[in-house]
Formats: sequence, C-alpha cells, structure tokens
Amino acid sequence: MELSINGKKYSTSGDPEEFLVWVLRDELGLTGTKFGCGAGICGACTVLVDGSPVRSCITPATALKGQRITTIEGISKTLPNGEIKFHPVQQAFIDEQTPQCSWCMSGQILTALAFLKSTPEPTDEEIEQAMSNNYCRCGCYDRIRSAVKRAAMLMNEEKDQKSTLRVS
Ligand code: FES
Ligand code: FES
Repeated sequence: MELSINGKKYSTSGDPEEFLVWVLRDELGLTGTKFGCGAGICGACTVLVDGSPVRSCITPATALKGQRITTIEGISKTLPNGEIKFHPVQQAFIDEQTPQCSWCMSGQILTALAFLKSTPEPTDEEIEQAMSNNYCRCGCYDRIRSAVKRAAMLMNEEKDQKSTLRVS
C-alpha cells in the first residue's frame, strides 16, 4: 500500500488494516506520533489528514490511501544551511516552555495548527473549546492555551511578512 506522508510517498508492506499510528511508528520510524489511550479519546496520536486532525490509533492506514497525511515531523523545514526552522506553532510551544513530559505535544501542536488555519484570530473561549479534546496528563493546560494564543500571533506575523514581500 502506498501512503503520502509529509509530501513523500511511502510503500508499506504490513497489514493494511493496521492502525495508522503503528504503521507510522513501527514500519516507517516516524515516532513523533505518540500512542496514549488507543481509544480515540486522548488525542496524543493526532495527525493531519488533508489538513484536518485525525486520531491515528483508531484509523486503519488503508482508509487513508490517496490522502495527504502530515505528522509532526512534516511541519518544520530544514534550511539550506542545515538549520531547522520550526513551524510557528512549534516555535510558540517552545517559547512558552509548554511541555512537561511532552508525550501529548505532537497531538496538541497538530490540533492547534489545524484550528488556527481555520480560525486565525481566536478568542480565549475558542482556543479552550478547540483544544478541549486533547488531554495532557502533566496538566500543562494553561501553558497550552498561552502557546496557542502566541502561535496565532506568530502565524499572522508570518502571513503579513509574506504579503509585504509579495508587494515589494
Ligand atoms: S492514543 Fe489515539 S486518541 Fe489516545
Ligand atoms: S506534557 Fe506530559 S502529557 Fe502533556
């Protein structure tokens, strides 16, 4: 089976009914996606499929043939000088020193990214609501909310810079 992940084509030879989280972690070595509850509840295993959050622990890989899968490994960029440029959402989580153990963070970041694409200027209530189905066992909820707020600001700044460059 062929899957499109982070802009690359991957061939997998295992059971196509296997849940995506295991294909990513065990077959393809993309271990940034974490396994938590295994029941679609906690959000630790969240990836993006065609830009929307999907729980990879309950989604068979075969259901995603032909769709665009994005994992946490796919949102940063490597610059020509070899430096990693983090996505603004990742940068915001770093700036706010959000994680404790970090287990939930890939899911938090990808959920926030999808949310901010559709809601670039969120209210505190909208942030609370959008992130409410991603659990953090370390209880970093205040810092997660601050990071999402900061991420909105960084994404909007980046958008403004790009449109200024286009005009000039
Ligand atoms: S591990 Fe998938 S939702 Fe918890
Ligand atoms: S930082 Fe530990 S589970 Fe969220």
